[in-house]
Amino acid sequence: AAAPLVLAIETSCDETAAAIVDGSGQLVSDVVASQIDFHARFGGVVPEIASRKHIEAICGVADECLDVAAARIGVPRLRWRDLSAVSVTYAPGLVGALVVGVAFAKGAAWAADLPFIGVNHLEGHIYANKIATPDIEPPLVVSLVSGGHTMLVHVKAWGDYETLGSTLDDAVGEAFDKVAKAMGLGYPGGPIISKLAVEGDPGAIDFPRAMLHSGDLRFSLSGLKTAVITYLRNEEAAGREVNKADVAASFQQAVIDVQIAKAEMALKLTGAKEFCLGGGVAANPALRAAYGVMCERLGVRLTLPPMSACTDNAGMIALVALDRYREQKFFGLDADAQAHVNL
Ligand code: KG4
Ligand code: ZN
Repeated sequence: AAAPLVLAIETSCDETAAAIVDGSGQLVSDVVASQIDFHARFGGVVPEIASRKHIEAICGVADECLDVAAARIGVPRLRWRDLSAVSVTYAPGLVGALVVGVAFAKGAAWAADLPFIGVNHLEGHIYANKIATPDIEPPLVVSLVSGGHTMLVHVKAWGDYETLGSTLDDAVGEAFDKVAKAMGLGYPGGPIISKLAVEGDPGAIDFPRAMLHSGDLRFSLSGLKTAVITYLRNEEAAGREVNKADVAASFQQAVIDVQIAKAEMALKLTGAKEFCLGGGVAANPALRAAYGVMCERLGVRLTLPPMSACTDNAGMIALVALDRYREQKFFGLDADAQAHVNL
């Protein structure tokens, strides 16, 4: 493998992850341990459980990450001191979950006397696009859609970001999760709703497209969620059988219509000729297809992260850290986790 070797740790929500990138930008190891089964029964991520599960998993995940990299590189063993730097997601996210990764990464960097790099989780989701498409270059517009974020970002250069607009209330992924919960479908809602939507009619129910004509790049999703819940209640009160596939497809279409319209606005506003997606909701097949159609029509190049890189992972964090390593932009060992931070 080409030097340097940069290891990344990610524990901002409910995945404990570790990855190693080499100097050519290749991920030589990318390990993710999901805790989702422990949270599903509660209908969402329970912060206290997330922290404790990270503590249980992190040493094993890091060991496995080093073993996978050693095998891939073709050396008998890779030790911490063979690395060039240790990086970690320090914000934003569940602070009690972040703290586990930050403390672990700092400890490893300190013990092995390596540079320590803090990475913004949202920047990681942007860099996830580089995993399969290393040649994407700013200026570009990226839509970040996850369980915690819904925003359009103008990437003027790597490391230079302008948030063009974001949600006033719920995030897109949160809306999928809440609608799924209201329909009694389980957690996380995104993958369940998107599967169900395949069999439904997206035009069956006319759910509201909030902020579609607001003339700016802000979003609002709590009204849509409430509209779906009200629809379900009314149908039940009237004794009518609800076609869940139609509800799923119509809800999803309402989300997609607004996402596409605002993304188009952002592209026109910035003049960017590249568009990409990031975050867990970027795994939604109907959304990916709709962006394909829009970008084709506008003559804009579309990059989509691989499905496995949409949800939280450490590979995307390692790619950011590699850039920071090259710039020698290191963090002190007094760095702390932060719940909220801008790009
Ligand atoms: O990025 P992520 O793993 O965690 C956060 O940083 O939030 O995103 C998780 C979110 C969840 O809300 C989940 O329901 C949603 O991404 N999601 C999807 C799909 N797969 C995951 N939403 C819509 N369609 C999907 N196929
Ligand atoms: Zn995320």
